[in-house]
Amino acid sequence: MTVHFIGAGPGAPDLLTLRGRDLIATCPVCLYAGSLVPEAILDHCPPGARIVNTAPLDLDAIVAECRAAHDAGHDVARLHSGDLSVWSAMGEQLRRLRAEGIPVSVTPGVPSFAAAAAALGTELTLPGLAQSVVLTRTPGRASSMPEGESLANFAATGATLAIHLSIHNLGTVVADLTPHYGADCPVAIVYRASWPEQQILRGTLATIQNAMPDDIERTALILVGPALGGEGFDESCLYAPDYDRRFRPQRATGGHDGD
Ligand SMILES: C[S@@+](CC[C@H](N)C(=O)[O-])C[C@H]1O[C@@H](n2cnc3c(N)ncnc32)[C@H](O)[C@@H]1O
Repeated sequence: MTVHFIGAGPGAPDLLTLRGRDLIATCPVCLYAGSLVPEAILDHCPPGARIVNTAPLDLDAIVAECRAAHDAGHDVARLHSGDLSVWSAMGEQLRRLRAEGIPVSVTPGVPSFAAAAAALGTELTLPGLAQSVVLTRTPGRASSMPEGESLANFAATGATLAIHLSIHNLGTVVADLTPHYGADCPVAIVYRASWPEQQILRGTLATIQNAMPDDIERTALILVGPALGGEGFDESCLYAPDYDRRFRPQRATGGHDGD
């Protein structure tokens, strides 16, 4: 018996890995974080599966569900939105389950920042503009930020910022970032990336607040940085005709094998 943690992706039911789909189909128990996991993914559960929305449960109750499945010898599919490596609350569940000797596995999912970049049709690491992406958030009711992980500190790098769980804090985000990126810095907000109701807003740090409709309150990503403009970047060396690399050695033109 194993509790299989599975990244359920950003919202579109077909943005689920084949491994995740196949695991769900073999598990007689499915626990899903109902606030963001699309119900259509539950169609992969086998007939008669016990399907539990964990949104109203606390950690003790979730672990009790896993323990009951363990005692019955039933595998569990544990679904969280996006990928499990960020803001999934998987860490605390893994700790409890490991302490109880309950076997676990982890299957990654498509993270929301990747779905948002896809919706924008944008690469977040454009040569000459940004070569790093910072996945971050602002403090929330339930989570403070460790000292040092301030927006201002991340902004000082000039990297592309993918700011989660913060759409209600847009004013603070703009105020903290403007001194570092400048008022003209491009911003994109992607609401419910990959859902049918997906919305995209584009602007700059100076204009984005005025562009925000009142009905966007959650499940949106704020992306900030020069790469969001999609202009003025360099071509990478990777596909340059004279760049010597392992899969395209330049022997014929006097180059040598790359590594
Ligand atoms: C609890 S976190 C979950 C993050 C998730 N584990 C991931 O890999 O993206 C929820 C936040 O992720 C972002 N988010 C999740 N799904 C999204 C989507 N489809 N479109 C835009 N933002 C999304 C929002 O910022 C939301 O407040």
